[in-house]
Amino acid sequence: MTDITLAIVGATGLVGKEILAILEERKFPVKNLVLLASKRSTDTVLSFNGSSIKVKELTQDSFQNVDIALFSAGSSISEKFAPIAAKSGTVVVDNTSFFRMDPSVPLVVPEVNKHALKHHNGIIANPNCSTAQLVMALKPIHDYAPIKRLVISTYQSVSGAGKEAMMELENHSRYLIQGKVADPKEFSHHMPFNLIPQIDVFEDNAYTKEEMKMINETQKILETEIPITATAVRVPVFVSHSEAVNIQTDKPVSVEKCRELLTNFPGVTVLDNIQEQEYPTPRDVSGKDDVYVGRIREDISQKNTLECWIVADNLRKGAALNAVQIAEELIKLPVNVA
Ligand SMILES: NC(=O)c1ccc[n+]([C@@H]2O[C@H](COP(=O)([O-])OP(=O)(O)OC[C@H]3O[C@@H](n4cnc5c(N)ncnc54)[C@H](OP(=O)(O)O)[C@@H]3O)[C@@H](O)[C@H]2O)c1
Repeated sequence: MTDITLAIVGATGLVGKEILAILEERKFPVKNLVLLASKRSTDTVLSFNGSSIKVKELTQDSFQNVDIALFSAGSSISEKFAPIAAKSGTVVVDNTSFFRMDPSVPLVVPEVNKHALKHHNGIIANPNCSTAQLVMALKPIHDYAPIKRLVISTYQSVSGAGKEAMMELENHSRYLIQGKVADPKEFSHHMPFNLIPQIDVFEDNAYTKEEMKMINETQKILETEIPITATAVRVPVFVSHSEAVNIQTDKPVSVEKCRELLTNFPGVTVLDNIQEQEYPTPRDVSGKDDVYVGRIREDISQKNTLECWIVADNLRKGAALNAVQIAEELIKLPVNVA
């Protein structure tokens, strides 16, 4: 199919702009591109494939003749507008958390579970950024030696919280160096030169919503009830999330075997040479498509358990790239996109 009319809802945001860049890079077959955002952005013009396209205000009528819409404008926008789009025949790929745990909505990372796409009802969910990179590294290990338990600690960049959060880190870091202090708006505490062990709100079980998203979404995508515990931490890094992950399997997996499994998995790069101090860092991985894994080692405290360090660009594999990959899979299913 070469004549797709595609809409980006939230086109002026961090994820929306990354989607625009990735559609261009991957030569997605767009015939018409509709850029949608809030009323605030109606004077904005964005460039795509050498053309200038004016951003329009999102309304109930925005989806006429739109084949696929990639939503990244927040949960409340998806809650209201995704069903309207789906009803008008548009297939929605939603980057927000609103539909992810809805049993009728597939939650998809194409390399891991693209089979789930076949059963969509007009809305497909993109996982949380930390989940997407996690399941990419877990899938080949889980297929070889079923995972029995996971302990995850994340180090998540501020771009995961949107463009205002990125600007706050930049501005407040500058103020701090100048000896001034500004009150945090986007974060619960000062972000520069600090760590915040809270992403999103706390739930009744004392885990944060972000931690529970990672737990529930990983189980949904891997189609298993693996016991998982997680601590999600916001760090003063602009782009790319890092994760220290402890993986207990039901049979031994050597470090060499783990490297081999990950190396052979599409979209994963192993960067693991401690003699040369080579391992992924968020700075090096930003702007890259792959999920990078390093520091692979046997847990000295427990049998059949590996430790590893997983880093990926949260705006790419964690959001925009995964959404575009889903759209690429959708256009191979002619029955879903007429
Ligand atoms: N950042 C990540 O790593 C990441 C990863 C996975 C999922 N997500 C999800 O993706 C969504 C967007 O994230 P982001 O980081 O791109 O946020 P962002 O940079 O703050 O951008 C938000 C976008 O939503 C638009 N928007 C806000 N209110 C709107 C309204 N009333 N009507 C129409 N458009 C509206 C904004 O348009 P204006 O410019 O006009 O305000 C902007 O385009 C969030 O739900 C987030 O949870 C983000």
